[in-house]
Amino acid sequence: TRKKKIGLIGGGQIGGNLALLAVQKNLGDVVLFDIPAAEGLVKGKALDINQLSAVDGYDCRVTGSTDWKDVAGSDVIIITAGVPRKPGMSREDLLDINLKIMRDVAANIKQHAPNAFVIKVANPLDAMVFALHKIAELPKNMVVGMAGVLDTSRFKCFVAEALGCSIRDVEALVLGGHGDDMVPLVRHSTVGGVPLTELIAKDKLDAIVKRTREGGAELVGLYKTGSAYFAPASSSIAMAESFLLDRKRVLPGAALLEGQYGINGYFFGVPMQIGAGGVEKIHTVQLDDAEKALLEKSFQSVKKTVDSVKL
Ligand code: APR
Repeated sequence: TRKKKIGLIGGGQIGGNLALLAVQKNLGDVVLFDIPAAEGLVKGKALDINQLSAVDGYDCRVTGSTDWKDVAGSDVIIITAGVPRKPGMSREDLLDINLKIMRDVAANIKQHAPNAFVIKVANPLDAMVFALHKIAELPKNMVVGMAGVLDTSRFKCFVAEALGCSIRDVEALVLGGHGDDMVPLVRHSTVGGVPLTELIAKDKLDAIVKRTREGGAELVGLYKTGSAYFAPASSSIAMAESFLLDRKRVLPGAALLEGQYGINGYFFGVPMQIGAGGVEKIHTVQLDDAEKALLEKSFQSVKKTVDSVKL
């Protein structure tokens, strides 16, 4: 079988880390694409990573490019093209500027890589992936938004820290939009199979939920000039890897819903199975009334932003 090809649209902070992870995990050859003004940046990152490959003997190569023709034939595309948040901004504040960038990117994907599995990262996530799906006319199983893996990683990190336990044994699920009213499902989270609610007191759990919801803003507050990039890159690679290797992992992320959770025609964070067929299944979690109310609130925020998008 031929080597896989990974197109990274946007060669900034997340893009550079995506390229490094893809090479280190031997996922395929990488094209790190950006606008002409950033040609030196992507060519430099490509060269730097290719030289690093000598140290540990990686077989995949990175090419820096500003020509969409080089992206053609990609098996997976991960889009981080867009502007990150600055302190005091909400993800929604990025809508106009990132939508403009997304229109350009979506039109080029439609033209050059219509068969790729496309993972959208730039914010506001749920609205951007909705617009991408429409403009690029991608099949619904071939386009997802990356948010849930990152949001659950944050939740798992805080739980492991609170318990002093291995992060490997923390299982958690976050549903809903990638905003401050996302819904960490505490009742469905476990540590080594033990329900989280039996291990951590309610007030402490509430604080973990709050910190998870505001996890993106915490990083923006620390970095000041941009938003998180290491964990977002790893989270996106987990989704790409599941597709490329047909791992059929069940990962949370934004998928097009058609009636699940009572939602129709919107992208929203849910657990989905990702394999060679792209989004192969969407799982429905049974929720109690309180959880349903939280999810509805999150959906109304997503809906408001999506409905304001003029396509
Ligand atoms: N086509 C390709 N790349 C573009 C385009 C475009 N039309 N417009 C901008 N870019 C590039 C920029 O030149 C920059 O190199 O996207 C890159 C974005 O990189 P950073 O500014 O470093 O942002 P990053 O931290 O990687 O975050 C990107 O992900 O988490 C979200 O909210 C975040 O929307 C932001 C995105």
